[in-house]
Amino acid sequence: MWQFLIGGDSAFAALKERVIGACVVFQQQPMPPGSTPTTARVGVEVRAADGTATLFVERGVQYAGPSDAARRWLADGHIEFDNFDQMRQWIQVDLKACYTSPADSQTRPTRREDSSTLAAGELTDLRAVDRQLPRGPTATNIDENGLFQQLVRRIRGQDDAMGLLAKQVHRHLARRTPRRPSTLMALGPTGVGKTASAECLPAMLQGRLPDGAQYGYLRLDMSEYQERHRISQLLGAPQGYLGYDEGAQLTNTLRLNPRTIVLFDEIEKAHPDILRALMNAMDAGRLSSASATGAAGHEIDCRRAMFIFTSNLDAGGILQDLKTRNAFGHRSAVDAVCRNRLRAAGVAPELIGRIGCFLVFRPLDREARAEIVTLAITRVAEEYGVRVTGIDPTVVADILKASPDEGFGARPDEYLIDELLGSCLAEAAAAGLEQPALVEAGPPYRCVPFDSRAALSLDQSDATLGDKPRKEHQM
Ligand SMILES: Nc1ncnc2c1ncn2[C@@H]1O[C@H](COP(=O)(O)OP(=O)(O)OP(=O)(O)O)[C@@H](O)[C@H]1O
Ligand SMILES: [Mg+2]
Repeated sequence: MWQFLIGGDSAFAALKERVIGACVVFQQQPMPPGSTPTTARVGVEVRAADGTATLFVERGVQYAGPSDAARRWLADGHIEFDNFDQMRQWIQVDLKACYTSPADSQTRPTRREDSSTLAAGELTDLRAVDRQLPRGPTATNIDENGLFQQLVRRIRGQDDAMGLLAKQVHRHLARRTPRRPSTLMALGPTGVGKTASAECLPAMLQGRLPDGAQYGYLRLDMSEYQERHRISQLLGAPQGYLGYDEGAQLTNTLRLNPRTIVLFDEIEKAHPDILRALMNAMDAGRLSSASATGAAGHEIDCRRAMFIFTSNLDAGGILQDLKTRNAFGHRSAVDAVCRNRLRAAGVAPELIGRIGCFLVFRPLDREARAEIVTLAITRVAEEYGVRVTGIDPTVVADILKASPDEGFGARPDEYLIDELLGSCLAEAAAAGLEQPALVEAGPPYRCVPFDSRAALSLDQSDATLGDKPRKEHQM
């Protein structure tokens, strides 16, 4: 805590600039003498709306020392102030006193830490702060086509939607200081890759962001948020209400990592008040429990986040309109069709108007399903510890034959893989098949060591198609 306790004007000014609208967390801060454990995380936050400030401390620290100030702070896990300067005053007077009682001489600052010998910038742990910053000073320029190629290797038969997704992600990351989160809505029938495409994004962005930053992922099933009172589980309780300091699913996740891809599944099922709070976030780039209740609450910066909403509403009508107009892949026509159809289906126009980009997912054709099955077989095999590098095409054909024809997407195909191939994969695993394996035609299906001379590899077979690169995407 010495960086706070002895910080000078310029250090606090630098800190203040960083904590407005964001909670900045400092790891492993020494706790007042008499505390167990001796270090804990400390967070500083100033709410952009009204300038009120909070000094958080990790919960669970036991304190047996004499200071009342420290006891209250550690017991509550936070302390509130009218403004940043008041918080500084409390830190440098009340809190400092519990580190400097005569008995606590071992916790006094060393010579190097003495404020008179430190440069202003050293007083706050600015490097730590910068790592946590929700708004970086530099933009991130990712390779849009590279991301598109990665997406279409995982998500099959949805090249138009994946092209738009890559473009939106590229644009959002390219903004030095985005004013609001990126907002997309994925529409289409069931089981065609809407959730899967959001899920795979963080792994694809790994290594593309500066300073080792990573995107997190949170999926929220909005059918669980149909009642108004569930709002506090999502956004946190307002100040003065029970559970205020506990945070909530969405706000806690964004507080820990402002770079999070949040998937709001089946958005039409959410209570209107919850939608209203989310809409505020989309406008202001801040998420606040206060926006739903009127009372003061936590405020979380969500400008770096990406919000992806999904819905199955009127998927048939949307697809039909796009087919009639031959408009797949034409951004403005897709947007117009989606907006009209969603409005007619009863989605609040205020929500529709805040969506930056619509991604329309098509029903899967036979080729896409064969590709998905092939990829899924290799994934399921990995769960058994078997590395499949070849699949007889009739195996894939058998799975597709056994699966319902249309209307359920790829889910039934994936379930059938385990039913048909589970035993053969389990046997291969039990036999310790360590070489690359070939799944032979059946039944009974068998996994045998892959013989590259005799078999079709995943790169050659009709059914496949592992890493076939796609044409350069153009929108
Ligand atoms: N286009 C696709 N490419 C690759 N895998 C897919 C595709 N579509 C579906 N899958 C696979 O099928 C399963 C279901 O897909 P997903 O969860 O994305 O469906 P969804 O479109 O979100 O459907 P729902 O509207 O019912 O939520 C996942 O395991 C996913 O890997
Ligand atoms: Mg889904």
